[in-house]
Amino acid sequence: MANEDQFKKVISHAKEYGYVFQSSEIYDGLSAVYDYAQNGVELKNNIRNYWWKAMVQMHENIVGIDAAIFMHPTTWKASGHVDAFNDPLIDNKDSKKRYRADVLVEDYCAKIEAKIEKEVKKATKRFGDAFDKAQFLQTNPRVLGYQEKIDSILSRLGKSLENEDLADVKNLIEELEIADPLTGSKNWTDVKQFNLMFGTKLGASAENAMDLYLRPETAQGIFVNYLNVQKSSRLKIPFGIAQTGKAFRNEIVARQFIFRMREFEQMEMQFFIKPGTQKEWFEHWKEHRLKWHLSLGLGEDNYRYHDHEKLAHYADAATDIEFRFPFGFKELEGIHSRTDFDLKQHEEYSGKKLQYFDPESNEHYTPYVLETSIGLDRMFLAVFSNSLVEETLPNNTTRTVLKLPAVLAPTKAAVLPLVKKDGLPDIAKKIVEDLKWDFNVIYDEKDAVGRRYRRQDAAGTPFCITVDHDSLDDNSVTLRHRDTMEQSRVKIEDLSTIINNEVSVKNWLKG
Ligand code: GAP
Repeated sequence: MANEDQFKKVISHAKEYGYVFQSSEIYDGLSAVYDYAQNGVELKNNIRNYWWKAMVQMHENIVGIDAAIFMHPTTWKASGHVDAFNDPLIDNKDSKKRYRADVLVEDYCAKIEAKIEKEVKKATKRFGDAFDKAQFLQTNPRVLGYQEKIDSILSRLGKSLENEDLADVKNLIEELEIADPLTGSKNWTDVKQFNLMFGTKLGASAENAMDLYLRPETAQGIFVNYLNVQKSSRLKIPFGIAQTGKAFRNEIVARQFIFRMREFEQMEMQFFIKPGTQKEWFEHWKEHRLKWHLSLGLGEDNYRYHDHEKLAHYADAATDIEFRFPFGFKELEGIHSRTDFDLKQHEEYSGKKLQYFDPESNEHYTPYVLETSIGLDRMFLAVFSNSLVEETLPNNTTRTVLKLPAVLAPTKAAVLPLVKKDGLPDIAKKIVEDLKWDFNVIYDEKDAVGRRYRRQDAAGTPFCITVDHDSLDDNSVTLRHRDTMEQSRVKIEDLSTIINNEVSVKNWLKG
């Protein structure tokens, strides 16, 4: 319940402080579609830049592209999306509500997992400093029982989905006595597959129009361009191609705010490698991507790997980096060993050779591909929800503060004249003029300074710069830090260096 409350706070805070709005809200909104507002777009851009810097510009052997959203429709036949990009759906006959069958089972397991966490909490309280969590998880009979149950359910679900045995998925739901989360009814239909791609048309007249799909992943834009990029860049294997961009899926379970959207943005990188080396590259990218996440300081305990039981039609190994969202651990990023499936399929469907000539071994081969794929919106939610805290201060008042990593914060500093007279606004405006070449900064003169501090805390601004009467003589200002609320007197000419130190991508990525 506490988590549910926290999640509601996240959603309303995102609206109140100009981060995320429901799309077309004046028409009562469009389900699972959202707009990014004035602060949201800055945060989103900063996350995208942080990824691009780490993945593209810091790697000599990775380049970026920006492929079109529309692609030739055969792309999706070749990739397997027309035939196999389905979700198993189940309807409740009483409530007429539709659910993803696998999500119903996974949510059931998440409830068992919550019981494990409860046991851990109890034991932590009981044993204090002497508590060894790893040992407890491996030896406590009740925890082992819960874990065994989860493993057996998920393994059966994985096998049934892999074998397309949808009748068994329904049996599993009935055996576990899973009820409609909204009404409690257990009156289920059979499980059916449902394709997630959105269709559209290209062409002026109905007779000549060509059926198109809105891309459900950005990856295929990379595959079909891989040889053009390789030849024009003269990159040698191993090398990567990255891109960020919109993807579209007709998601049925579209709750949880921007976690699962119908229009969303991906940041993907396909790494082209020699066949047979995929295991070591899989481990490499698993580790590298987790390191990227940890560099943002959201807490090591909030991440975990989840290896896939059920592999997608293109993969020979896959893992998720999961994040502790307000509604529990869920997939944030996928790392997939995609073999040569996609390139071979595109060769077959296009009739074009997509082989690479390896000058070192003097042979032609179809490269294998290691993919890292993260949802930008999901990353936004991870950062935003983790940063929103309610603090009790020493004087027993509370403050709401959005402790965004400073490197990602939309506004780096707010410049505040203590009063609207005596020349203080002029100095403050001059500071804004100087700083805005390097940082996104704002000027704010409304309300008492304490209220302005609170407003910036809640908006996630890491620094407030206050110009007071002493500034007229000593060319100094008060610099206030959002997280510690500490204030120090600094020279105006030093502001840029101090802020840069705290917000530069280099300092954050280097750790
Ligand atoms: N190219 C591989 C691929 O698309 P995926 O696991 O289906 O793999 C990758 O998606 C990432 O995209 C996920 O880890 C998630 O962060 C994000 N994602 C997928 N579907 C999404 C949705 N409906 N809304 C928001 N993000 C989504």
